[in-house]
Amino acid sequence: MLFIMNPEKGIEESRAYGALKEMFQGGRPLIFVCTPEEGRVRMLLQDMAGRLLSNRPPVWSWSLTSGLQPPDGGSAEMLSPAAVLDFIAAHQAPGIFHLKDFHQFMCDDAGVRRKLRDLYELCLDSGKFIVMTSPLRLIPEELNRQVALVELHAPGLEELTDFIRMEADRISLQGFAVDTSDPVLFAMARALQGLTLDESRHALRRALAVRGSLDADAIVSLIDEKKLIVNRTGLIQYIADSTQLEHVGGLEYLKAWLLERRKLFMERDSLSVEIVPKGLLIMGVSGCGKSLSVKAIASCFSLPLYRIEMSEVFSGRHGNPDAAFVEACRTVESVAPAVVWFDEIEMGLTGQTGESGTSLGRIFAFFLTWMQEKTRGLFVAATANRIDLLPAEMIRKGRFDEVFFIDLPTEEERIEVFQIHLQKRGIDPKELQLHRLKKITHGWTGAEIEQCVVSALTQVRLQDRTLRFEDLHHAAISVIPLSKTMREQVDHIRSWAYDRAVRASPRETKS
Ligand SMILES: Nc1ncnc2c1ncn2[C@@H]1O[C@H](COP(=O)(O)OP(=O)(O)OP(=O)(O)O)[C@@H](O)[C@H]1O
Ligand SMILES: [Mg+2]
Repeated sequence: MLFIMNPEKGIEESRAYGALKEMFQGGRPLIFVCTPEEGRVRMLLQDMAGRLLSNRPPVWSWSLTSGLQPPDGGSAEMLSPAAVLDFIAAHQAPGIFHLKDFHQFMCDDAGVRRKLRDLYELCLDSGKFIVMTSPLRLIPEELNRQVALVELHAPGLEELTDFIRMEADRISLQGFAVDTSDPVLFAMARALQGLTLDESRHALRRALAVRGSLDADAIVSLIDEKKLIVNRTGLIQYIADSTQLEHVGGLEYLKAWLLERRKLFMERDSLSVEIVPKGLLIMGVSGCGKSLSVKAIASCFSLPLYRIEMSEVFSGRHGNPDAAFVEACRTVESVAPAVVWFDEIEMGLTGQTGESGTSLGRIFAFFLTWMQEKTRGLFVAATANRIDLLPAEMIRKGRFDEVFFIDLPTEEERIEVFQIHLQKRGIDPKELQLHRLKKITHGWTGAEIEQCVVSALTQVRLQDRTLRFEDLHHAAISVIPLSKTMREQVDHIRSWAYDRAVRASPRETKS
């Protein structure tokens, strides 16, 4: 059942099946599958037994609470972890033994570890395979050579399509209207990509509850459900934001670049891989619109936006940073097409060397390779304040399509940012003589302009009257811009970027 017809690619074998198959074909008797999805492993093993192994070995399963369940569905026998290993050792026929949550017993009990080492020898070439599943990757050091590790990533398109077909058949038997045509099933699989099979099942049930049927129109509900589930990890966030390109003031060159690349990105499936836009690195002075621009990219490309916070990766809250980062990159890949935003990508670099061998060096090495190999449906937008902290190879051409520098806004840009923020708050800027603010706002960031608009508006609302030029002017006087308080830092960023990055907007012609 894991070989299915994919309307785009023909007959395929799922990635998970492929990973396990390699272990069985290599004759590895002790296999450790790191995954929370026991049901999925069970299905894979059934498949493996029926399809790959000529002797069609039966699949047994054991857990501490249910005991040992025989393959024929007969009654279970309550056996301790050590006793189940004895049972396998004495068993005289080929078989696959699925042991759940066995990491605990392997780690805590020296007797269990010894028995496993004995079993390794005993089961070699005997047609007996022990497959342990656990959500935690905990293999005692002394078993490292005997136990083969398989990381089960989120199911691929093939596995998902197959799973949805099975679920759809079940749902239609219950009397619901279900569209099981290949294009619809495939579109649903695309929508659910990135989720586990259990999560996919919940998403399908919820879509069914909302709509009463499962068809092309249910896809929107499936995507909504996925957004909720991806957010749950805490490492990747779905950003619901509708900032349009016209809500970003200035940055003319950056906008023109994006509009050109949008077309290429849309046609990505029919283009050669070198010209499909891969991503952007945006650096610049804090508060000048880096985050804002990334949000606008997602709307411009009509794609969902996912953010990976580098500070979260290094926080230790998600385990080892290397593993957390790799996992996050893989997950976002499976939710493509999307824009993925690495915020403050230089985070965690201060005080560390970045040499390969350190966690940081490994993370960047992985990132650079991943940028080259990732699926073409993913557009990467990385933002950084201190780009000078990044390894040189990260900035070099070829990794990102372009490195943009967002400088302090020019006079014209500042006026445009004022207009945007006034309009956003329902005020027509026409009569406000904004050009008179050009001088006083010299050296301001976009964020400071927004702050000025907000404080002027707060004043007039308190006095219950309409906004005048004087209110903005008055608020402006009390703003002390970052470019003054942190002059050296701002100058440093600007001079560093001078010949290393492309400006996001034209230079100021007069000041
Ligand atoms: N070019 C701009 N056009 C319109 N608004 C802007 C612009 N630049 C900044 N702003 C306003 O300032 C706020 C802060 O900008 P943003 O978060 O994009 O800055 P940033 O460059 O990401 O800063 P940081 O380095 O602190 O993360 C935005 O939410 C927006 O309201
Ligand atoms: Mg930001």
